[in-house]
Amino acid sequence: MRGISILGSTGTIGVSTLEVIRLHPEEMRVVALTAQCNDQRLFEQCGEFLPDLAVMADPAAAQRLGERIKAAGLPTRVLAGVENLEAAAAAPEAHCVMAAIVGAAGLLPTLAAARAGKQLLLANKESLVMAGRLLMDAVRASNGALIPIDSEHNAIFQCLPAGASPGERPRGVRKVMLTASGGPFLRISADRLARITPEEACAHPKWAMGRKISVDSATLMNKGLELIEACWLFGMAVEDVEVVVHPQSIVHSLVEYLDGSVLAQLGNPDMRTPIAHALAWPQRRDSGVEPLDLVHIGRLDFEAPDLERFPCLAYAQAAARAGGTAPAILNAANEVAVQAFLERQLNFTAIPEIIEGVLETVETIENVDTLEVILRADADARRAAAAVMQHPVTRQYA
Ligand SMILES: NC(=O)c1ccc[n+]([C@@H]2O[C@H](COP(=O)([O-])OP(=O)(O)OC[C@H]3O[C@@H](n4cnc5c(N)ncnc54)[C@H](OP(=O)(O)O)[C@@H]3O)[C@@H](O)[C@H]2O)c1
Repeated sequence: MRGISILGSTGTIGVSTLEVIRLHPEEMRVVALTAQCNDQRLFEQCGEFLPDLAVMADPAAAQRLGERIKAAGLPTRVLAGVENLEAAAAAPEAHCVMAAIVGAAGLLPTLAAARAGKQLLLANKESLVMAGRLLMDAVRASNGALIPIDSEHNAIFQCLPAGASPGERPRGVRKVMLTASGGPFLRISADRLARITPEEACAHPKWAMGRKISVDSATLMNKGLELIEACWLFGMAVEDVEVVVHPQSIVHSLVEYLDGSVLAQLGNPDMRTPIAHALAWPQRRDSGVEPLDLVHIGRLDFEAPDLERFPCLAYAQAAARAGGTAPAILNAANEVAVQAFLERQLNFTAIPEIIEGVLETVETIENVDTLEVILRADADARRAAAAVMQHPVTRQYA
């Protein structure tokens, strides 16, 4: 019986994880669940999966959850506050921890899971973007395992030789190719991009995802964050990570070897596949995903990304090359800009403008040996983003 903690169980990845666990009650048991403020959904999950522990970052929501759990006579202990997310991450009965909180809020609990030597199933790419060195060092030091959940990195993980060490470039690999769906605006003109609404940006053609990652996919920042993630996970230089737009989202990524062999992982665009792979690793278990019908799909297309219409990818490449705190600055500026766009305070095309402005104003610190340096860079970038947003051109919402 495999014990599993899910950080961010009420989100898109959390719910898909529980769907896979539901298929394997004889092998997988939920130990802990966490959320920010959706106590209704967390209560329903506790009722079905009977975890030992439920943690809510928002104290008022935790209070409501605790009252309902008590009234229903459920065995789950309820804790409140961000500091207790780490208790869920390091719960002794948990063998695997699904890190599926969105954004920088996931960093500390994800690090706690890595330090506790868990099998870390990493969906929260922002933690690796912010603190790649610290997180990979923690995984190695605790002898834990890190299995990427992003479909692209999970595909690469599956195409690499077995036994590759976390963060070390496997021998014989020339480069990795990350595929990108291109998002909902792949063919939309630059003029029209300025008038995109949050609803349009969140309607992804291939994947059902949370709102923040949906906007990141639409700006191609998601691919930029994934590029940085790939460098840390597989020990690659920025130049060895190629981004290829593949609108059908069937080929999830590829690895090219020195002899010219290219290995790819294919499947329907459904996150339950990488989730089931990571939950069962090194075994294989049913994910509930429909089999791939290549004849029905008919064709697979590939093209280069358009960095002029989607400059976020270029900013991420530059931040990856700069290293140090630059990726954390990029990530924080992006989180602030995306949130403002979702709240209709900004045009879609102002997102890259804000990121560019922040990268120009906040100084990159090269040495990122401590968490404090990273958290300071994150805070500085958030302040700088708020200042850039006060500029009348970026503030306007069309
Ligand atoms: N969705 C996908 O297909 C996909 C694919 C690959 C990678 N990822 C990555 O997986 C992560 C989660 O994405 P998602 O789409 O599942 O996001 P989501 O649907 O927005 O869910 C986010 C989860 O995090 C919780 N949360 C949000 N802010 C928090 C905070 N400050 N403290 C504690 N918990 C907090 C939410 O709780 P409440 O519900 O209570 O707000 C929810 O459980 C992201 O890093 C994303 O990049 C997602």
